[in-house]
Amino acid sequence: MCGIVGYIGYRNVSNFLLEGLHRLEYRGYDSAGIAVANGADITIRKKAGRVQELSSLVDECPVEGTVGVGHTRWATHGEPSDANSHPHSGGNGEIVLVHNGVIENYSALRSQLQQLGYTFQSETDSEVVAHLLAHSLFEQVKLGCEPSETDTCLKAVEVALKKLKGAYGIAVLFRDCPGVLIAARNGSPLVLGIGDGEYFIASDASPLVGYTDEVVYLADHEIAILTETGMDLLHRDSGRQTPSIQVLDQVSTDIELGDFEHFMLKEIHEQPTTIENAMRGRLDFDAATAIFGGLNMTLQQLRTVDRIVLTACGTSWHAALVGEYLIEEFARIPVEVEYASELRYRNPPMSDRTMVFAITQSGETADTLAALRECKRKGHSTLALCNVVGSTIAREADGGVYLHAGPEIGVASTKAFTSQVTVLTLLALYFGRMRHMSYQAGSSIIRKLKEIPEKVEQTLNCDAAVKEIAQKYYGMNNFLYLGRLHNFPVALEGALKLKEISYVHAEGYPAAEMKHGPLALIDEQTPSLFVVPKCGIYPKVISNLEEVKARGGPVIAIACEGDDRVAELADDVIYVPDVDECLQPLVTSVPLQLLAYHIALLRNCNVDRPRNLAKSVTVE
Ligand code: M6R
Repeated sequence: MCGIVGYIGYRNVSNFLLEGLHRLEYRGYDSAGIAVANGADITIRKKAGRVQELSSLVDECPVEGTVGVGHTRWATHGEPSDANSHPHSGGNGEIVLVHNGVIENYSALRSQLQQLGYTFQSETDSEVVAHLLAHSLFEQVKLGCEPSETDTCLKAVEVALKKLKGAYGIAVLFRDCPGVLIAARNGSPLVLGIGDGEYFIASDASPLVGYTDEVVYLADHEIAILTETGMDLLHRDSGRQTPSIQVLDQVSTDIELGDFEHFMLKEIHEQPTTIENAMRGRLDFDAATAIFGGLNMTLQQLRTVDRIVLTACGTSWHAALVGEYLIEEFARIPVEVEYASELRYRNPPMSDRTMVFAITQSGETADTLAALRECKRKGHSTLALCNVVGSTIAREADGGVYLHAGPEIGVASTKAFTSQVTVLTLLALYFGRMRHMSYQAGSSIIRKLKEIPEKVEQTLNCDAAVKEIAQKYYGMNNFLYLGRLHNFPVALEGALKLKEISYVHAEGYPAAEMKHGPLALIDEQTPSLFVVPKCGIYPKVISNLEEVKARGGPVIAIACEGDDRVAELADDVIYVPDVDECLQPLVTSVPLQLLAYHIALLRNCNVDRPRNLAKSVTVE
């Protein structure tokens, strides 16, 4: 939600800011803006619409300077418009800031500031922060401090931040102190990049790739004071901090499209590699189990776990459902899958031996973070399954596992899902082998898992068939996605993909639930997509499919290669390789990703930047 960039150093800043905003655009794309400090003044260029439109504006009216901030917005307070776009000025332009997050007490603060004579140009909560900072600066000056001194700016920020309730990541420029850039965070991520005589700020590391590989992840309640010559880090409670510098291991090809038209398509095609990466170094063929380095729990502690809570949102929640089936099946440990947005406010009974696993691609999802913190506060062991290294959830959990899928830029999650399922399969195996699972059973799973990247590669060959099917159905406005057991979460995930990128209504159900209500929806304009690979209850799913056919509903089936029975019954079939039942989601999810992709293209939708959405949901 919203992307922030900032720079102080020797370069002409607008190129870095615009390039950074392009890279962060997946976080929000309602409007964009930059502000550049150039001696006596701060120049702002901002505009509703995409970063590309801002770039054109800057081409027409260039800005020059070596200190600046930028923002790409996902609207929370106030519609996407020029006025509501960031940066916002405070006071009479003494302060200019960009903000990511939600200020919960903005309404009360706005009234107080209006009574003090501050005039608002926008409907945003962020402008409140700008005026609050300007007022705080004014108070410091009244006390005799010099507005051109870094300490005055810092003090103004410290005092103002104490009045804010809610989440923020901010980067602030000071008109009368142009050689300083201050960043602060509480709840919304910020990463600092350290160059040679230059410093960078960004909401995630992608804008820094190619500029520096030394980064510092800002923690909550930390303030960074950046000048051309140095960086200071202060914590609200514990004062000056020694920055913990980490090495960034992203390369520029990770964040480029290469030969693909869209990031979503690129990421779908990366899955053979990303699944392989999720398994790398984690398969122990000798002991027929998985190896995890970062769980930070002893075997003894792990053996006492008597319940696992998997908490997540969206696609990650669907991966968690697959995990539930597998962990219960392999390890016989009861598993609950909780929406993080519910768990953070629910108070379900959880024993001391309940382990909590937060599953998240970004590691920044506000609801998942809040649920994790709540469980941690209650004393539960918390683990995280994250993709983004150094993300807040990865850092706050007691231990965890990284997906190593590389940056996922398309808003619709694809490769993260299959990587999450891969790691959850390994975890299920690990817990299983620690308990009841035999050596032979463990060994068989490992061997079959090892073959999965190859099977996913073969599955990708269905693209041409999927494209044809998309041509046939793309005009329809309602779809049902149906599957059973391991393929029920796949059905949910397929429906979510279609909804979010092509704006077509789609519902996922366990196939057998149709007769309890949704069957009433079936007509010749409502296709049902059955995920029906060979499995123990294959004949049952076939019966569910026949029930839909008998009522005149078109059926698209995802079936195993060579399945003639399905070919006779369904209107259209997409074939996938036959793999072990417990590993099927890793292949059956792929054609559903492709189908959503092709339907979205045919409906002229923006595949990578669907309306109303953003990649990383850092607000509640
Ligand atoms: O980064 P996370 O995995 O925590 O994100 C959770 C959801 O916001 C995310 O999966 C969302 O549902 C995707 N857009 C789905 O494609």
